[in-house]
Amino acid sequence: MSNPSIPDLVNRISTLGSQLSESNADNEKARRSLLTAARNLCLRLETPIETLRRIVWSELPLLACLQIGNDIDLFSHLGRGTNSLSQLAETTHVDPALLSRILKHLAAVGAITETGADSYTPAPLTAAIAQEAMYRDIAQIAFQMHQVSYAQVPKHLRETGYQNPTDPTSCPFNAAFKTAKPYFVWSKDQPGLDEMLHNALEGYVSDYRRWFDEGGYPVRERLIAGFEERGGGGEEGVMLVDIGGGRGRDICAFREEFPDAPGRLVLQDMENVVAPVRDSLPKGVEGMGYDFYTTQPIKEELSDTGAHAYYLHSVMHNLPDTACRSILSNIVPAMRKGYSKLLIHDHVILDVGADFVATGLDFAMMTYFAGGERAESKWRRLLESEGLKISKIWVFEEGSEKLIEAELA
Ligand SMILES: C[S@@+](CC[C@H](N)C(=O)[O-])C[C@H]1O[C@@H](n2cnc3c(N)ncnc32)[C@H](O)[C@@H]1O
Repeated sequence: MSNPSIPDLVNRISTLGSQLSESNADNEKARRSLLTAARNLCLRLETPIETLRRIVWSELPLLACLQIGNDIDLFSHLGRGTNSLSQLAETTHVDPALLSRILKHLAAVGAITETGADSYTPAPLTAAIAQEAMYRDIAQIAFQMHQVSYAQVPKHLRETGYQNPTDPTSCPFNAAFKTAKPYFVWSKDQPGLDEMLHNALEGYVSDYRRWFDEGGYPVRERLIAGFEERGGGGEEGVMLVDIGGGRGRDICAFREEFPDAPGRLVLQDMENVVAPVRDSLPKGVEGMGYDFYTTQPIKEELSDTGAHAYYLHSVMHNLPDTACRSILSNIVPAMRKGYSKLLIHDHVILDVGADFVATGLDFAMMTYFAGGERAESKWRRLLESEGLKISKIWVFEEGSEKLIEAELA
């Protein structure tokens, strides 16, 4: 890959910057291109010591400061216009000498804005954290879960002879939280953690296009058209099953986008995840407690045809191949050849130039689950081993997950 020179990067930034400011200030694609170019320029300009300084002195303490800010509700108070150190110390009940140190670091790294001596206002990051749970919980998960678990990774790899992890009951996460239970079994008994995770999951993808949006997976052409004729009709006909669908963000968005789509929409997840949302699901979406290592209940014998599509979003990357094969082995018998589709919504790691979101998630999946993101060749091997074949992969914007459509081979 060519490595552009600093003058080339500056020229590119200048061109992209004028494009953005002149005619299309709200052009999201142009804004992202400019940001990527600006990041590349920073990486080229930074010396090694500057890079380390940024990580060690800016980013590492920032996560802790954000957690402290969340604990004392600092960002909501700042947003309400309480902005002097003395006012903030009074409302948060924190020693002003201590609070001043936290505020100074937050200001130094741009997480809040210093408007004068001991006077602050929120910056976009902390304003967002104060307003929406998904931002707050991404930061909380990073501090409370990722940092603690990542600290165990080097030791774990040393002790296991630097072999690729495959056992979801013995991961760095297990060492960090002193449990032999796989993450999703353990998390059931941790008050508030599921809520935090599902808020964070919504946040991670909140600015990406959805899989069925314009230019993405052609739902009308591939799922809706011909549903009845192809055999999906009847009272029991099922259009889509969202397996491991969490609180239903995908299937509810699908219902909203395609209110005229025929057939039932079924959300499946563990009963403890589905139960709290079951009664608030929109009309036409059913919540079903289901363990995906057991026989898929939406299948041919029950509904005449099985579902038109079985959808798995951010599920397979949570698991090593053996566990994925077990999930697939429960879906495949429910599918009808030439009719049912398996839709996997996950990252496909590029052979060259993989995005840091995908590689970072891969590291997290290894740490928690002995799972990971997969390259296209790995997806093909995995699906073929269970009698499936990939018909097409839909690619969306940089950094986002892809949509893999597979059918019975
Ligand atoms: C990373 S989350 C993805 C949730 C959802 N698809 C989304 O993208 O927001 C993985 C989901 O798998 C569910 N899960 C884990 N083990 C499961 C099991 N044995 N049976 C059913 N669901 C399970 C979890 O409860 C969680 O909601």
